[in-house]
Amino acid sequence: MTNWSPNSWRNFPIVQQPKYPDAEQVAEVEKQLSSFPPLVFAAEARALEQHLAGVSRGDAFLLQGGDCAESFADFNAPKIRDTFKTLLQMAVVLTFSGKCPIVKVARMAGQYAKPRSDDMETRDGISLPSYRGDIINGFEFTEAARIPNPENLIKAYHQSSATLNLLRAFAQGGLADLHEVNRWNLDFVKNSPVSEKYHDVAMRIQEALGFMEVCGINPANTPSIKETELFTSHEALLLNYEEALTRRDTLTGLWYDCSAHMVWIGERTRQLDHAHIEFFRGINNPIGVKVGPGMQPDELIKLIDALNPSNKPGRLTLITRMGADNLAGKLPELVKRVKQEGRNVVWISDPMHGNTVKTDNGYKTRDFNAILREIQAFFAVHRSEGTYAGGIHLEMTGLDVTECTGGAYKISAQDLERRYETQCDPRLNQNQVLEMAFNISDTLKTARSDYLASRG
Ligand code: PEP
Ligand code: CO
Repeated sequence: MTNWSPNSWRNFPIVQQPKYPDAEQVAEVEKQLSSFPPLVFAAEARALEQHLAGVSRGDAFLLQGGDCAESFADFNAPKIRDTFKTLLQMAVVLTFSGKCPIVKVARMAGQYAKPRSDDMETRDGISLPSYRGDIINGFEFTEAARIPNPENLIKAYHQSSATLNLLRAFAQGGLADLHEVNRWNLDFVKNSPVSEKYHDVAMRIQEALGFMEVCGINPANTPSIKETELFTSHEALLLNYEEALTRRDTLTGLWYDCSAHMVWIGERTRQLDHAHIEFFRGINNPIGVKVGPGMQPDELIKLIDALNPSNKPGRLTLITRMGADNLAGKLPELVKRVKQEGRNVVWISDPMHGNTVKTDNGYKTRDFNAILREIQAFFAVHRSEGTYAGGIHLEMTGLDVTECTGGAYKISAQDLERRYETQCDPRLNQNQVLEMAFNISDTLKTARSDYLASRG
């Protein structure tokens, strides 16, 4: 890696960063953070890269999901547990009904920095700096809260650390045991239309486990029955935070951003000659880039070559977020070109960010059907191009919120005010996530078996 260091991004233009009032205080915080232990270990990031290389060959499917923005105020064990359970439920439905191994990556334990379309927010004639995520400033609409506070970096580190600790405990300490699948259902889902379907899957899994046990396959000799592997990810937007957690791996001598296993570049910060590309090219984690409807094929090839010059499988995931109505018109030329040029990437769909609308009563929302349509269109494009639809990236929560419209409960624009709790974008709730899983599992099953058959 030529001319790269964890701070070389500082020589490049950068957008979407806070303007701190006190530069000295920022430097002090960065110094402190650099002395803290890493949150993840480089070998774990390499393990995820191997799994993603498997996804690029059609061996598995990537499920990435969590809050749009994690919050300092709403930080507690039930919330982490329920989002974890929701992610596991979707994974188990896709594994069982979609007949496909799932690589699970939480959008958690570090998802605190938000890019914004507008620098200022205006309410009732008062304009204040936009909220940019709890790692930067406060959500509350007051002048004091909206001033960027460098101490938030320290707080985000500790909260990420506690979240990750709990996720690791849940993944390995028994909550993810396949004998427990029926208990992952949250109370509010128990009476829902998807509950019965889920119960049926759970019963069939219990039956299969019983059969396996008789055949000598049990949790003692097959740990994947009683534990799961869960990785973490977030948008690495705030580069001084990411720099401070970037460490040289003692085993390989390579640099890793140890704030999460996987990090991605957002749609607003992927300019080829800017700081985020510079930072990301030098870290050895598996990385993602959001790809919106404005992306051109030439630009995409340049981006791929800047980030993955050795064309390593599993290194780079392209997260398309086109909008349900744009995808069929935009994605094919990108997929064709990448295939033609022989670049190894994992293609996944973020069906959330291209489908955000504002209701007449002022809520930012997304409709369940638009989200589903974008996913189905994503599968269809890959099928016709002979490429592999490798995963999905969702904004979701285990809370019983009403933020996205539609789904079996037919949440309407009027229902949104009931429990609209997100600090940024609207999330699918557990019912909607499960329903999505049932809706796409057949498509996944067919798409994957056709892809594998076409490869021989
Ligand atoms: C996000 O993932 O929350 C986000 C801001 O996405 P994008 O960069 O695709 O707009
Ligand atoms: Co979002």
